[in-house]
Amino acid sequence: MWQTKNTGNEYTTKSKGEKTMKVIYTKSYAELSEKAAELIAAQVQGKAESVLGLATGSTPIGTYEKLIEMNKAGKVDFSKVTSINLDEYVGLTGDHDQSYRYFMNDKLFNHVNINKENTNVPNGVAADIEAECKRYDALIEEKGGIDLQLLGIGHNGHIGFNEPCDIFEKNTHRVQLGETTIQANARFFGSMDEVPKEAVTMGIQAIMMAKKVLLIANGPDKKDIIEKAVNGPVTPQVPASILQFHPDVTVICCFE
Ligand code: GLP
Repeated sequence: MWQTKNTGNEYTTKSKGEKTMKVIYTKSYAELSEKAAELIAAQVQGKAESVLGLATGSTPIGTYEKLIEMNKAGKVDFSKVTSINLDEYVGLTGDHDQSYRYFMNDKLFNHVNINKENTNVPNGVAADIEAECKRYDALIEEKGGIDLQLLGIGHNGHIGFNEPCDIFEKNTHRVQLGETTIQANARFFGSMDEVPKEAVTMGIQAIMMAKKVLLIANGPDKKDIIEKAVNGPVTPQVPASILQFHPDVTVICCFE
């Protein structure tokens, strides 16, 4: 079913139809970050009012640093951009230094000319989380969907906080974080008790409806899961594998 074409460091995985997944192997985190930032900048240069789906985690930090540099150098203008982040921990306010709202302000929004009013992160302390999930889906729809969705990947194949599950969860939803995710997140908190056990995450539908998807993965520990996501069976047990059905995915990875 899959054909893999090798042209230097770029591999194209092609299904029977038109759908392709482009995988770029880089030699360093700096190169990964530069390439990812270039793709995001190209999106914004081509459409000033782009809706960017943004991600947290350690992987995109270098990409955001590059985008800040490019913005300061006048190469990319975020003034008309809308951003819609993937997820947020339940129970953390935006001023908690481990919340994803705080992360985005600190790593990107405070340093570029984006209008903060046009930046969106789910509200993890909403009184009614189910209503917040509905509000978030309505917001994505109102904005006309996502032009380019940036994704990292968890060791278990999660995208956003869509954890391995029996089904692909379609809409924004509240999720119980899996044990490996809680363990992976523990490094950022003082004690295990403080690590959030729940999150609000964008669902698979909004990700799959994004016009372009850019998945980034860094480090030798991400090699196996990228292999499963790109070439393994499409299964909700590896949520990122659904991207094999998306028509425009670029994966940039560095396994060095
Ligand atoms: C968290 C985020 C994901 C991210 C993942 C990987 O779980 N919710 O969106 O992809 O971390 O993080 P890292 O890039 O630090 O490996």
